[in-house]
Amino acid sequence: MTSIPAGSALPALLHPFARPAAPRGSFVEIVAGEGAEVVDAAGRRYVDALGGLWYCNVGHGRLEIGEAVLAQMRRLEVFHTFDRFTNPTAEALAERLCALAPMEGVRVFLTSGGSESVETAIKLARMAQDLGGHPERTVIVSRRPSYHGVTYGAMTATGLPANQQGFGPLLPDIVQVPHDDLEALDQLAEGVQGRVAAVIAEPVIGAGGVLPPRPGYLAGLRERCDRWGAYLILDEVICGFGRLGAWWGAVHFDVRPDLVTFAKGVTSGYLPLGGVLVGPEARRPLEADPATVLRHGYTYSGHPTTAAAALANLDLMEEEGLLSAAPGIAERLGTGLAGLVDGEHVLECRGTQGIWALGLAPHLEAPALRDALLAQGVIARPIGNTALAFCPPLVVTGAQMDRCVEGTAAAVADVTGGRWTGA
Ligand SMILES: Cc1ncc(COP(=O)(O)O)c(C=O)c1O
Repeated sequence: MTSIPAGSALPALLHPFARPAAPRGSFVEIVAGEGAEVVDAAGRRYVDALGGLWYCNVGHGRLEIGEAVLAQMRRLEVFHTFDRFTNPTAEALAERLCALAPMEGVRVFLTSGGSESVETAIKLARMAQDLGGHPERTVIVSRRPSYHGVTYGAMTATGLPANQQGFGPLLPDIVQVPHDDLEALDQLAEGVQGRVAAVIAEPVIGAGGVLPPRPGYLAGLRERCDRWGAYLILDEVICGFGRLGAWWGAVHFDVRPDLVTFAKGVTSGYLPLGGVLVGPEARRPLEADPATVLRHGYTYSGHPTTAAAALANLDLMEEEGLLSAAPGIAERLGTGLAGLVDGEHVLECRGTQGIWALGLAPHLEAPALRDALLAQGVIARPIGNTALAFCPPLVVTGAQMDRCVEGTAAAVADVTGGRWTGA
């Protein structure tokens, strides 16, 4: 076996969703942040146009969250919630989330992030079906494209084949249908329809390309779940906590889920936390027999310090009325980006409320456009080769949104060698 020489050009950190062979100097080192901006090691400022990774809803540098974390750490930095143990901060967060939930009669399971939450929702759905007298209902229906995470269950549910390649066998009994195609659900064999434990869907597909549902689609999912006896899992890891102008995409689109996965915006990313809202239909079988034990949980489920960060974050969201920010993002950023569509290089602008993407002609190459946009002082995220996503902090200013639009125009002109002169 060859060993990697000391002083190698490769950084010690093996970066996620990056080329393992990428040399040390190819990374942008972010050292500070404030509001909707971050600063690199050379002192260059950027508009954080994706809110980190779709999470930084209250913006960077909010000392209120840091202070709440420190106060919690002074009292009790961590104690687990397995079996007979609990802590008041995790309980308080659960109460708060129940009060905000898009359906009545909810309990909350806490995790450390989105993938764990999706994993948990899949397991809870299957377990509840099993305990409810339907052990045959093990199939999870998900959509293509979609993004649900990287652990085996979440990765298998994810409708992006490139993310599944090379990782060996996937989870069995996950069936995918094209997104927004209710007929594809109706065409599933009767034998499959009768075995569906749950359908999982993002209210607006995020990392799969920023695709809002067409009117009536989510209601159609609800109707099929009711007919099949399946649970509807809404994956609100991006859509939750104000991204669509309400606490939940479920509220924005007026659809009732049975389980809701969340992460990211619950702490604005300040500490890793996620969870699952479990509605009454899924709770009932789990709670029916007092002897049933839920043999599932993560070491950090109910971690009091992450819960303190979430509570402080929710306080900021409420005190600053950040739920009302998304329509303003649509107005300024969405409209501005739509003005860049020229039908030749920039083919479309899609999104809603606080989440947007430009659909690009194949010759543009989204990663190259991202790089050109970095030079303009804006961090957006390429999705595959043909989309560039924007999902800024809810505290983003009008001037910062204008920088995103103007920077993108300059970046497109740059990568097209000046052939693009504006839409
Ligand atoms: C909708 C959705 N679900 C799940 C995940 C996975 O979350 P995590 O990266 O925290 O595991 C993501 C991450 O982007 C997501 O957007």
